[in-house]
Amino acid sequence: MTQRPHPWQAYNLRGSPYFQDNLSRNTRNTSLSLFVGRQRELQKLLIRIEGSLTGSRQAVAGRPGIGKTTLVEAVKADARDAGYWVAPQSIALTPEASSLDLSGQVLSGVYGAVTAACDNPSAPEVEAAQQLITSFRLHGGGLAVGAFGFSGGGSRSEGVSQPPSALLLDGPRVLRNLLGYALAQGARGVLLHLNNLENISTDHAQKAADKLRAVRDQALMLEGLHVIVVGTTDAVCTAVLHHDQVRSVFSEPLVLDPLSLAEVEHLLRKRYKALQLDDSGPQPAPVDAAVIQELHGLFRGDLRAMLRALEDGVVELLIADQQQTNASGGRPPISRDALLKVLHRLYQELLKQQLGSTTWKRLEAWAAKDAAVSQTRKQLQKIWKLSQPAVSRILQDPGIAVAVEALPRHGKDPIQYLLTGAARLALLDPAEGQVNSSNP
Ligand SMILES: Nc1ncnc2c1ncn2[C@@H]1O[C@H](COP(=O)(O)OP(=O)(O)OP(=O)(O)O)[C@@H](O)[C@H]1O
Ligand SMILES: [Mg+2]
Repeated sequence: MTQRPHPWQAYNLRGSPYFQDNLSRNTRNTSLSLFVGRQRELQKLLIRIEGSLTGSRQAVAGRPGIGKTTLVEAVKADARDAGYWVAPQSIALTPEASSLDLSGQVLSGVYGAVTAACDNPSAPEVEAAQQLITSFRLHGGGLAVGAFGFSGGGSRSEGVSQPPSALLLDGPRVLRNLLGYALAQGARGVLLHLNNLENISTDHAQKAADKLRAVRDQALMLEGLHVIVVGTTDAVCTAVLHHDQVRSVFSEPLVLDPLSLAEVEHLLRKRYKALQLDDSGPQPAPVDAAVIQELHGLFRGDLRAMLRALEDGVVELLIADQQQTNASGGRPPISRDALLKVLHRLYQELLKQQLGSTTWKRLEAWAAKDAAVSQTRKQLQKIWKLSQPAVSRILQDPGIAVAVEALPRHGKDPIQYLLTGAARLALLDPAEGQVNSSNP
């Protein structure tokens, strides 16, 4: 069977170089060999793990899409090489997870690390853990069976309110024994990655802190256990810094800065090279350097949204010009103006549809003032001529996140809101105004 020509072939690529998945080990197209920068942060996290003879608890924070998960994936790969046992999957925190679920997920994470490191572990400690995880899951605990055994991330089934008492009673002992088993088998420690802390702190930011405090002694403070929690800056700061009992056992959160323009250019060059179709053909470069420069400024570190915009824009242009897509590798890079024009139209349609015309008009009023400047609720009240509760309602609607981002809060200062890169692409016509960015 002959394969249909792939549109990315027009750029001498095997597929889209703008995928938005996080990098991880042992994957074919999203491998950690594509990792760039962040060497200081990587060392900082590793030093805490390797330097602690008992256990460690760290937090990685940063704005959405900045590269938190990918950094921790890189730490896990290095830790594994250094003799730590690491679960194949991270623990995905879900909004409905209770502190008991969290304990269950820690147990299942350690179990995942043990079964990934030992081919066929058959010891009483491992069997006891497996039984407890199975019974917890059967009783509706927040655990799901993954390809490698048990892993966190499933959801609680309806109508189950009473957690199995076995986990409450036996959980701490079983977890301690399982960790003891791993250490006795030669593990330097077990490393767990709790991802997306913001999921358990969206409604009541302090709930996440309460949950961490509740599991602190029995599931986090154990010999040989190293934990990295990951989340948006506000979620991490609230969850980790809120209770003294939690703060005192976590290191100072590591807050990630955006990758520099040079690092983003390097990231893309690596992806182009890895996905190059024909080695003797031209070097892939679907877009001009000016495109990257513009989008890097607009998205201010949100790599996911930036990659998404690149993919959306290039695909749109490839579809519009189907005939040329069959020609292999001969296309010139897309210019800044051509890409911004198509993104402007695409994102405007999308946002108008997603947000409705009233909200869209409000965003226009904001952009008419200055799309690049952040605003407080009070300032938005003036721009929109609305009451404070009305402005709060608009900003609290989860749907608004595509267009408006709340910046991390500094102390008791009012929260600053900023139009997202996608919203600014939609609002400012590249032919008329400057889309170019300035940081708040
Ligand atoms: N240091 C890096 N080197 C190369 N690529 C990176 C790096 N950091 C992030 N990326 C890429 O940027 C995108 C976003 O990264 P990632 O998913 O790790 O961000 P995140 O902060 O965890 O996002 P979210 O807030 O949505 O959870 C992914 O496609 C990832 O592959
Ligand atoms: Mg992430």
